[in-house]
Parts: sequence; structure tokens; C-alpha cells
Amino acid sequence: MLSRLARPAAAAAALRRGIATSAQNNAKVAVLGASGGIGQPLSLLLKNSPLVSKLSLYDIAHTPGVAADLSHIETKANVKGFLGADHLGECLKGCNVVVIPAGVPRKPGMTRDDLFNTNASIVATLTTACAKHCPEAMICIISNPVNSTIPITSEVFKKHGVYNPKKIFGVTTLDIVRANTFVAELKGLDPAQVSVPVIGGHAGKTIIPLISQCTPKVDFPQDQLIKLTGRIQEAGTEVVQAKAGAGSATLSMAYAGARFVFSLLNAINGKEGVIECAFVRSDETESPYFSTPLLLGKNGIEKNLGIGKITSFEQKMVADAMPELKASIKKGEEFAKNFK
Ligand SMILES: NC(=O)c1ccc[n+]([C@@H]2O[C@H](COP(=O)([O-])OP(=O)(O)OC[C@H]3O[C@@H](n4cnc5c(N)ncnc54)[C@H](O)[C@@H]3O)[C@@H](O)[C@H]2O)c1
Repeated sequence: MLSRLARPAAAAAALRRGIATSAQNNAKVAVLGASGGIGQPLSLLLKNSPLVSKLSLYDIAHTPGVAADLSHIETKANVKGFLGADHLGECLKGCNVVVIPAGVPRKPGMTRDDLFNTNASIVATLTTACAKHCPEAMICIISNPVNSTIPITSEVFKKHGVYNPKKIFGVTTLDIVRANTFVAELKGLDPAQVSVPVIGGHAGKTIIPLISQCTPKVDFPQDQLIKLTGRIQEAGTEVVQAKAGAGSATLSMAYAGARFVFSLLNAINGKEGVIECAFVRSDETESPYFSTPLLLGKNGIEKNLGIGKITSFEQKMVADAMPELKASIKKGEEFAKNFK
């Protein structure tokens, strides 16, 4: 079963009892884009975790306020705010994990690819700083379009001679969180007990939920399966439309981002059997980057668990996603080549 965010109550109880949840809970985590719609609640969840001892918050606006606010919370993580490019290096030094939700979100009618022009250079700039100041850190990219920002990050790290494909992750966890929730709703299950792998990429039809591999096993008539799959693929747009111009998913994304970071930290701390899906460098299909379940370990990806057995309906989705995936990846790689 895929790993889940520790229940806040359990984490808080562990803190009160002074119980260490792992051998070395002393991770330094940075959030780049920390003042934004995702950045703030994500930073709150990270501050609430006993796994984090230092929390570095970077943005081009408002970080002194966000950091001062969070620093009053009675948990051990030491919070520091860093404002503007001159302080980015200091923010990143010694980081174990860097999470990047910096960039503009969608408005109604936009695709994730419409964000490329703005977000590609933001991600290239921030990951250049990561390559220089914390080349060993795990890099988790939330900024869209993820199908292009991961190839950009990889090319930036290659340029600096510090590329390790086992440590660069496109965060697709929200797709898994949504799939679990929607399946649970339809079947009257507790969402916390449902686990649906979602493979492929993170945009429209490249989001491929593997309902056939759901735990517990669930069955849907074909028309319901098609509807459910479509809802998971377009769930981001559902939020964008409901927010009517005020942005895209922030709170559920913060939850999903925190879940992914906690899985990484648990794996770094030696916990065994931690599995998450993420968009990474991959040899599983003809697409050079692809999301599949990954076994995480001390050094990032320990083993790519691959696609596994899938139905012909799911096989067709994988085939149909290939042209868009490859085009988005190429676009990111071309951009990074010309980025100075
Ligand atoms: N991976 C996913 O599943 C997923 C889900 C939802 C949103 N997103 C993406 O996350 C990104 C952020 O969304 P949001 O709702 O938090 O947006 P937002 O506009 O609320 O916040 C973005 C933050 O980034 C900051 N920023 C901009 N340029 C920066 C730079 N050069 N350096 C540092 N910080 C910078 C802004 O000041 C702002 O605080 C968007 O690209 C969105 O599409 C991804």
C-alpha cells in the first residue's frame, strides 16, 4: 500500500510524549515559494512534524511574516525566512529535502502547459541554486507543468555535473490522494484504507489511475470506470473552476506535498517499505520520464516498482498519453538547454 501522511493527532501525541518516530529526526527542509497558496499550508504541516528540525522558507515576498508566524508554534522545527535571491544560497545550505511550489497557478480555461512561459524560468532559476548549494538534497517539484519542470530540473543538474536521477521527483501525490478519495466515496469505504496507484504524468490524459490495482480490490461497470477515470484526470480543473479565478488546488496540494515529503524523510531515516508514485527519470516506457510506484530509501529511489499488470483499458491510456508526455518533456529539455 502507498504511504500516507501521518495523522496530525498521532504526530502531536508522539511529540507530547517525546517519542522519536525514527532514529534521526533532524532533517533540514526548504520550501521555495513558501508564501503562496500551497507554500503556506505546506510549511504549516512541515512545522507540525517531528521529522523536521529546520524549516527554511524562501520566497520573493512575505517570508519574514510567514516565518515569524510559524515560529510561534510549539514544535521543535526551527523556522527561518529568506527573502529575495540574495538569500537563496543561505536558505539552501545543508538541506536534505527541497520542495518547490513557486510559480503561477492556473486560472479557469488554462491548461498546465499555459503556465510554461512563466514557471519554466522560475524552476530553472531555483534549481540552479539547488545544484550549487545543496546538490545532494532530494528535490521535489510541485510547480506546473510538472511534465516539463522535471526535465528542466534534470537538465539543470546535468549542466552543473551533479545530476542524480534517484533524487529528483515530480510531485504527483495529489492525483493519488484524489483517486483514493473518489473511489472511497463511490464504494462507501474509509478513504484512509484505499490505495490507488496513479501512473504516467501530471496533466489531463497523462494522469493514469490504475483502478485495477486498487487496494482493496474494487470493481466498476465500464461506464462508471470511464467517468471515474475522467474525474481523477480533471480533478484539478474542478478546483480551478470552483475557485473561479482565485487559483488552483492549494490545501489538498499542501496535504499531498507534506505526505510525499514525510515519506521521503521516513525512508531517509531507514524506514523500510515506503512506496510513493512520482514523476521521475524512467526506463519503464518509451517516455524518458514517467510516474510509477517507487520504493524509497536513504538515497532516494531505491527501486522503480514499474507498472505491473494492467488492463487493456489502462494499456490504451498509457499508449494515448505518450505523444503528449514526450512533447512536454522535449519542451522542458529544449528550454533548459537555452537557459542561462
Ligand atoms: N503538482 C501538483 O499536483 C500541483 C497542484 C496544484 C498546484 N500546482 C502548482 O503549484 C504552483 C504554485 O501554486 P500556488 O497556488 O501556491 O500559487 P501562488 O501564486 O499562490 O503561490 C506561488 C508563490 O510562488 C512565489 N514565487 C513566484 N516566483 C518566485 C521565485 N522566482 N522564487 C520564489 N518564489 C516565487 C510567489 O511569490 C508566491 O508566493 C503552480 O505552478 C501550480 O500550478 C501543482
